[in-house]
Amino acid sequence: MTDAALLLTNQIELLHSIAIEHLNAATTLENIEAVRVEALGRKGKLAEISKQFGKLGAEERASIGKLLNAAKQELESKIEGRAAALQARVLDARLDSEWVDLTAPAPGVRPGSLHPVTKVQQELEDVFVSMGFAVLDGPEVESEYYNFDALNIPADHPARDMQDTFWVKDGRLLRTHTSPVQVRGLETLGPPLKMIAPGRVFRNEEVDASHEHTFYQLEGMMVDHDVSVAHLIYFMKTLLSAIFHREVTVRLRPGFFPFVEPGFELDIQCLICGGAGCAVCKQSGWVELLPCGLVHPAVLRAGGADPEEWSGFAFGLGLTRLAMMRYGIDDIRLFTGGDLRFLRQF
Ligand code: DAH
Repeated sequence: MTDAALLLTNQIELLHSIAIEHLNAATTLENIEAVRVEALGRKGKLAEISKQFGKLGAEERASIGKLLNAAKQELESKIEGRAAALQARVLDARLDSEWVDLTAPAPGVRPGSLHPVTKVQQELEDVFVSMGFAVLDGPEVESEYYNFDALNIPADHPARDMQDTFWVKDGRLLRTHTSPVQVRGLETLGPPLKMIAPGRVFRNEEVDASHEHTFYQLEGMMVDHDVSVAHLIYFMKTLLSAIFHREVTVRLRPGFFPFVEPGFELDIQCLICGGAGCAVCKQSGWVELLPCGLVHPAVLRAGGADPEEWSGFAFGLGLTRLAMMRYGIDDIRLFTGGDLRFLRQF
């Protein structure tokens, strides 16, 4: 073998083994491509070697050419095999990371829940509907007439100061209580009448743990022949037993509201201590629950009912306050705060 042929043979073998070494060290497809370009590319090492074939005789050229081709083919197939293996590994890793358990239950839509005030409201509506009461609605933006005058609270009466009011530019106001629905109900349905009117009311209040500018009340009224305080007490006791799921003891104290005569504050015997005295009832044994009374003749007249013929009772229940008592909520601001951690508990 001539020196030139020997040199080329050595070069081919060296090149081959270096390429294999690089290939074995390659960890990415880019690495592998670099090995291929360096060894087999048009300007690569093997191409360079074949340029030197001119120095060889015809016979040696054939045999060295064969050697070169064999090395080339071997490298090509090794490179291909390694690239394929690497690609398969990359794909496996991707499939692993993107694996989804199709048999797992779908996460679905998180079910919502009713607001605690809505729950108490719906419960009370059920109780009253079962006793033949209609459930009425009234406007939240109310006229001065229905909110005050028709309820026997004239413009110069000090009772107007009991309720600080949000006024609308056109002279209307955000209703400060649900009592306007008493007169609206009488006008629309006429006596005899049993109705409740749950809804939102507004006061210009300094907000703190027990005061909100927006809260809920439930108004109730019954007008018929010879309605007395005895009817009032009966319906209130039925209502309270339904709310608290037990027999409750009530008492009436005098209370002033211009739209009732006589007017009362209804207290219940403390459900925590049973009347013995505790922190909740401030040691008195009684908890103030709702104002009520017999409908004032002026209100009956405003609603178109002759007070000589008709009489009635009315009450105003603080729905928000009741929900607080019912669920042991000590801060009224939680109701309108929109905090889902609070709301999801109901
Ligand atoms: N509307 C009164 C308020 O919000 C509460 C009230 C008192 C309603 C006596 C009544 C009632 O129906 O008879 O302060």
